[in-house]
Formats: sequence, structure tokens, C-alpha cells
Amino acid sequence: MIRVIRNPQEFKQWRREQAGLTVGFVPTMGALHSGHGALLDRCRQENEISVLSIFVNPTQFNDPKDFEKYPTTWDADLKFAEEHNVDVIFYPRFEEMYPDSYHYKVSENEFSKNLCGRNRPGHFDGVLSVVMKLFNIVSPTKAYFGEKDFQQLTLVQGMVRAFFLDLIVVSVPTVRESTGLALSSRNLRLTEEEKLKAPSLFKSLKEAKNASEAASHLTELGFKVDYVTDIRGRRYVAAYLGDVRLIDNVQL
Ligand code: PAF
Repeated sequence: MIRVIRNPQEFKQWRREQAGLTVGFVPTMGALHSGHGALLDRCRQENEISVLSIFVNPTQFNDPKDFEKYPTTWDADLKFAEEHNVDVIFYPRFEEMYPDSYHYKVSENEFSKNLCGRNRPGHFDGVLSVVMKLFNIVSPTKAYFGEKDFQQLTLVQGMVRAFFLDLIVVSVPTVRESTGLALSSRNLRLTEEEKLKAPSLFKSLKEAKNASEAASHLTELGFKVDYVTDIRGRRYVAAYLGDVRLIDNVQL
């Protein structure tokens, strides 16, 4: 039986009781899919204890409508966590995660302002702040992040170094459908027609000669492109199909 803990202090007490054991941690916003499954399996293999958190973090949504529409699938998530042999789910409430009403935050002022940060002001402050809180509560030996959000992964790695946090960040390759589409909780919101178009995101990213060619191709196909950018040896994309924002990246 999985233990579900909602209160941060109760979690910290439980964590103290696990002293000496390796604790792996997979932070998520729920709506779990095989991409999360890959993180959970790796976490299970490499640690004595496997912890999953589910918290749809409002401070990282610059668009309140996007937050409201974010899928919540608790029953399915619990079953999924059981299938992936999770020991404990940390499932906090907003008031307990933000006793300061978000008066304190963690901010990065260079890479976070680029790519997804450009048109989503405050997004990465919200991500880094909640990840810092989660790290302080869970106190993991290793924490697992997917490469699909490579900018997030890079920023979390930077935060761990900058604040001398005592944990290892493990990056896990993106899981894709057979069509190439990267798995994402947001895919649940695509219409049947959009689902047929969505795999072109990865295909254009890989096959275009340069970023602007990929952007033009995606626009022709009906995507509303936020950006396609080559930076630090990777090509990154964010584009909308309808009101669903999809992201991906490939190594150049
Ligand atoms: O990648 C996510 O699901 C979220 O950004 C994270 C890391 C769980 C923080 O809310």
C-alpha cells in the first residue's frame, strides 16, 4: 500500500525516520504517463525508497486559464504509482506549500528569461521556487527530471549547484510515441485532428536545416509558433496547436 502524505511537516518527520536510506524523488504535477513512468522506474532501480510528488503548482502558470485546464487524474495517478512501485506520494495543498503566500522566491536571471521564459514571465521563478521547497521537504538523494523540458532540467541543475544542495539531479531521456510525439500531460487536451498534426513538431525540429526553416514549416502546418531557437547545442521549440502549448528539443 502506498503511503500518501499531504502535510510538509509530516513528510519531514517521515523522512527523518528513513535516515541512512537512499531516497529517490520524482516531482510531478500529476496526469501521469509513460514519460513519468520512465522517471519512476529509474528512481526505483537506483534507490531504496521511491518518492513521487503530485502538486499542480499555480505559481508557474502565467496564464490562469492554463492552470484551470491542467488535467487532474488522481485515481489513475495512484494506480500508476502503485504499478511503478512508489513507496510514498507527497500530495500537498497550496496553503501548506506557500505559507508565505509566495513572498519569497528563487529566481534565475539569465537562461530563464530566454525560450519558455520570454513569453511566460515568472514561469521559471515558479518552477525553481516550488522545486526548492520540494527538495527541502523531501531531502532526496537523487531527483529525476525528464529531458523533454531541457530548459527546466538545466535550470534545476544550475540551482542545485548555486545553492550547494546536497543531491544529484538525474536526467532521463524523453519518451516518445511511435510517431515521435513527446509524451506530455498536455497531449490529453489535443483534439483528434490536432493529435494527427502534433508529431510534426519533432519531425520539423529534427529535419529542418535551421531554426527558421523549422518555424516556417510548423507555421505552414497550422502551429502557432512561440519560438524555435538553436542555443547551447540544442534546438528548442514551443508551439501551440489550438490552445495547447507543446514543447520539445533535440541535440544538434
Ligand atoms: O515538470 C513539471 O512537472 C513541473 O515543472 C515540476 C518540476 C513538477 C515543478 O512543478
